[in-house]
Amino acid sequence: MNIMDFSSKHSRITTLKTPCLVLAVGHDSNGATFKAVDEASGGQLTRLRKNGDFKTDNGATLLLHQPQGLACERLLLVSSGKKPLDAQNFSKMLQRALKAVIATPATEAVFCLDDLQTELSMDWQATQLARCAGESVYRPDRFQSDRPPAAKLKKVVWLLAESGHRTAVDAALALGGALAEGINVCRELGDLPGNICTPTYLADQAKALAASSPLLSCTVLDEKKMRELGMGALLSVSAGSEQPPRFIVLQYRGKSGARKRSVANPTVLVGKGVTFDSGGISIKPGAGMDEMKYDMCGAASVLGTLTTLAKLELPVDVVGIVPAVENLPDGRATKPGDIVTSLSGQTIEILNTDAEGRLILCDALTYAGRFKPATVIDIATLTGACVVALGSHASGLMANDQALADDLLAASLASGDRAWQLPLWPEYDEQLKSNFADMANVGGKGAGTITAACFLERFCKDYRWAHLDIAGTAWNSGTAKGSTGRPVPLLVEYLRRVAQV
Ligand code: BES
Ligand code: MN
Ligand code: ZN
Repeated sequence: MNIMDFSSKHSRITTLKTPCLVLAVGHDSNGATFKAVDEASGGQLTRLRKNGDFKTDNGATLLLHQPQGLACERLLLVSSGKKPLDAQNFSKMLQRALKAVIATPATEAVFCLDDLQTELSMDWQATQLARCAGESVYRPDRFQSDRPPAAKLKKVVWLLAESGHRTAVDAALALGGALAEGINVCRELGDLPGNICTPTYLADQAKALAASSPLLSCTVLDEKKMRELGMGALLSVSAGSEQPPRFIVLQYRGKSGARKRSVANPTVLVGKGVTFDSGGISIKPGAGMDEMKYDMCGAASVLGTLTTLAKLELPVDVVGIVPAVENLPDGRATKPGDIVTSLSGQTIEILNTDAEGRLILCDALTYAGRFKPATVIDIATLTGACVVALGSHASGLMANDQALADDLLAASLASGDRAWQLPLWPEYDEQLKSNFADMANVGGKGAGTITAACFLERFCKDYRWAHLDIAGTAWNSGTAKGSTGRPVPLLVEYLRRVAQV
């Protein structure tokens, strides 16, 4: 089911009948469309600009009811702001406009963005519009008794200046809509509390997703199977929890096709699925610990990305792997100093049970080798140090292959879902030395984001691999607390490039 209906049409703006017309206005308000609408309304727009009712900063809006001289029921004006309109400002402007539309009972909104002076392509803008509109209906309020009724907005239309661009714009809108669906799946899973979103719940969601498309299939390994395989690192994390661990494998055969049993040289996405991270015996301080329900956002981004791929039927083969566990302290929990054997055979001295993400990921990365992958990308809320380094604006990117890092950086720029590369020099890896095992699970003081990645790199010797540390980008804290859906936009853009569409 589509969250919203997206389409494009070519029509005269002044005679257009719609519950809500949204007109984007440039800083100097001298665009041709603005002038036409202003003229039809007897100069009302210019007056509102002059007297300050309609401000000029980015995202400022003004709603007019039954505007004179126009056929629309409402006219929403939105300002693009002064600066050259870049990806970030453009999205902010759309979000503000959509918020204002959703506050009205309008079921349809027609967007006219012709007047904007920007280097952003029309297709890119159309994708962003559908994406922002689709995202704007997501609300994390399902457990609130007095939640407001769902948004009325059901249809978003792109008003074309010329009829010629129609097919390209329609495809761009479809991409944005599919992206929004994946983002919303990711956000919803992230926002769910740890008592509901358990490893078993994640596995059930993956199975439900697989059932929704002939191009997807899902297998889930239970604890017994993981023990037989020898996933000692992963199992050491779930040892202190009553929640059984799950190892989820989702195959998407967009290239091989529905009738094929398995994928060919796929891109493997591995998502950290710690459904709650208390730190284990190395327990975390109490303040803000609730936010560790978001420690499965890597897993959520894998399910979100596969949702979008299946929707778009993108011609790529992708395997999503989610090691899902809960990290709690208990009589059976792993203790600092314990030594475990990973699926790869390498032994690990666990000096800190709060560095658990890398312990589940290393076994998943070894398992990923089974698929003879072209590329493996892991996505994880891995280190608090990454939040210190990059804050909430960019995900940390590390890779054992520079061409892959470059491709991901290009996709991050194109999608507006920013990432920034950090180095993986051998000197950092030396910080993982242990006196008792092949390696320690922590690298001591300094460069915590990099030493965590160095740990993972030791399990990725046989393929091209990149690591996205999304600790700072996966969710917002404070009053705006909530999942962001990142890095689904980055991953989808990367895979579109792999598919060459
Ligand atoms: N899930 C956390 C990382 C994290 C912390 C993400 C805060 C977002 C916000 C991870 O499992 C963790 O606890 N990492 C430790 C590693 C340390 C013990 C080497 C950390 O960052 O403190
Ligand atoms: Mn931890
Ligand atoms: Zn964690």
